[in-house]
Amino acid sequence: MTATSPSDAQRLVIWHDLECGGYDMDLPLWRELSVIGDGPVLDVGAGTGRVSVDLAARGIAVTGLDMDEDLLAALRARAARLDLRIPTIAADARSFDAGPARYATIIVPMQTLQLLGGPEARAQFLRAAGAHLLPGGIVAAALADALEAFDEEHTEPPLPDMREIDGILYSSRPVAVREHALTVSIERIRETVDRTGKRTVDGDVIHLDRVTAAQVAQEGVVLGFTALPVRAIPATDEYVGSSVVMLRA
Ligand SMILES: C[S@@+](CC[C@H](N)C(=O)[O-])C[C@H]1O[C@@H](n2cnc3c(N)ncnc32)[C@H](O)[C@@H]1O
Repeated sequence: MTATSPSDAQRLVIWHDLECGGYDMDLPLWRELSVIGDGPVLDVGAGTGRVSVDLAARGIAVTGLDMDEDLLAALRARAARLDLRIPTIAADARSFDAGPARYATIIVPMQTLQLLGGPEARAQFLRAAGAHLLPGGIVAAALADALEAFDEEHTEPPLPDMREIDGILYSSRPVAVREHALTVSIERIRETVDRTGKRTVDGDVIHLDRVTAAQVAQEGVVLGFTALPVRAIPATDEYVGSSVVMLRA
């Protein structure tokens, strides 16, 4: 990056990596499932490639799918720097069409399934995924275990994620988790301090669908999948644990 101000696309990538890039508790499971699948892997909601790059570095054939072309461009640049080949598909997970490509394992890390927007959206994704699986292939999707509601007034919030890049300090701090009827919202304050000391403060909110592993498993069964035992990704001091729904085609 040059000493000029980062573009909007560069900022998007920086915030994405600051907020998601340090997570690694799930990697052993995605590696295990990819090896068991013994065939091509599709990483849905691949972002800048946290999981795709890890798998490709282990010799696994992986394709990254995301609806955000700027994040995929960062994924491709990262892969190129490491001399890895990771094809990408810019598409909405709810309606993707990868042509004739078929995958042994379709993984959906880090609550991306909960970003899709409710049961009908999940069904659209599961239909699209089913159409791209090899016989006996598996869809594995991580869901956040119950997120504890908090806000700044009532509970000590977690520490911020911080990084300095090219003389600019970036800090992202979760300030509230709020439960709603159908979603849980996670509110963050994003702050930057530039080389001249100028400070900017913005809010960011994501909405995760409230859904359990048992519900997604049932939704999959209705669509013709076989539900396999749910796998667990343990919590850490910084991240909630996840339950991983496993559906066989
Ligand atoms: C929480 S991030 C996870 C990124 C990456 N998989 C990781 O674990 O670090 C969610 C990702 O899903 C993508 N995403 C959200 N909704 C999507 C959709 N409907 N179709 C495809 N990608 C989507 C976002 O652009 C983002 O990159």
